[in-house]
Amino acid sequence: MHNTYGDNYRLTIFGASHAEKIGVTIQGVPEGTIIDLKNLQAFMDRRAPGRDRFSTARREPDQVVFEKGVSEDGLVDSDLITAVIFNTNIRRKDYDNLRTVPRPGHADLTARLRYGKDIDMSGGGAFSGRMTAPLCIAGGIAKQLLVKRGIRISAAIDAIGGQSEPEKMEQAIEQAKMDGDSVGGIISCKAEGVPAGIGDPMFDGIENRIARIVFGIPAVKGIEFGTGFRAASMRGSSNNDAFYYDEDGSVKTQTNHAGGILGGITTGMPVEFRTAFKPTPSIARQQESVDLSSGENVSLTISGRHDPCIVPRALPVVEAACACALLDAIMEAETSRQ
Ligand SMILES: Cc1cc2nc3c(=O)[nH]c(=O)nc-3n(C[C@H](O)[C@H](O)[C@H](O)COP(=O)(O)O)c2cc1C
Repeated sequence: MHNTYGDNYRLTIFGASHAEKIGVTIQGVPEGTIIDLKNLQAFMDRRAPGRDRFSTARREPDQVVFEKGVSEDGLVDSDLITAVIFNTNIRRKDYDNLRTVPRPGHADLTARLRYGKDIDMSGGGAFSGRMTAPLCIAGGIAKQLLVKRGIRISAAIDAIGGQSEPEKMEQAIEQAKMDGDSVGGIISCKAEGVPAGIGDPMFDGIENRIARIVFGIPAVKGIEFGTGFRAASMRGSSNNDAFYYDEDGSVKTQTNHAGGILGGITTGMPVEFRTAFKPTPSIARQQESVDLSSGENVSLTISGRHDPCIVPRALPVVEAACACALLDAIMEAETSRQ
């Protein structure tokens, strides 16, 4: 497994859900940079499990420990940063019956097919939503570096279980939980202040770069930029964003159906995208599966601690992914212009 993203702001995520620790190495942060450690921890806390009534009962403090590259007061003193989080709340026995019986909707089967039957899938192994904690470390630092460049990223929940009103979203989660089931949802994300002219055509466009890292978030099944799939049923006259000169002399668009990207390159308008999350695969109600050791069809009941909906906890993760992608692309542009 490589789990590496980026060329200029380069991160590699390591560990597994029930390993001693999970973490990330980061290259590209200039020595002498000061990381606001309190701000970073506050960002981590938005994702940490066990914080609200819908979140998994697995309580983890998700305290960031810098093993290399960052001093106690946040000073970056090396090109290579290593940050870890120790896993404290592990219950392996919850996963005993999953050793040979894969959970429908999870990566248990495909992980074994790819890496062999002895792969440690306890707690979801390297496929766990827990691996998004190190992504948030890298993303939290990236967000701070972007703020210094005048760029702000924020994500919001658009829908849960097909509902878009906050009260109905909560009810959808509550009802799914009572039914021993789960629901998915949609997160929208916006990056404001992104300079125009970042990105490249074809394979290195800003859409490509964001999509690649966003699909690294477990349970993501779709992404659309700007009007996305709705553009397919619009006419050019309504989908095209008309240009105008702003007071500062820059070219802006009257609408932003393009989501701030044309030809893979930023327009200077906010970069906007939406991400679809599937329902949490591990559900309490009985499901049909197979026993890979006996070769029989079996019924499966999953124990353990699982969110009936992962969307609220994924909000900072989407922001983190967006921040890493944009910072990597912006650093590339800054280097090539020097
Ligand atoms: C923050 C977060 C928390 C998650 N928690 C759970 C969980 O408690 N139980 C579960 O079955 N899946 C959970 N997932 C989703 C699985 O990790 C994911 O569905 C699985 O690895 C299969 O990958 P895929 O859905 O991308 O194909 C979580 C995902 C995220 C982003």
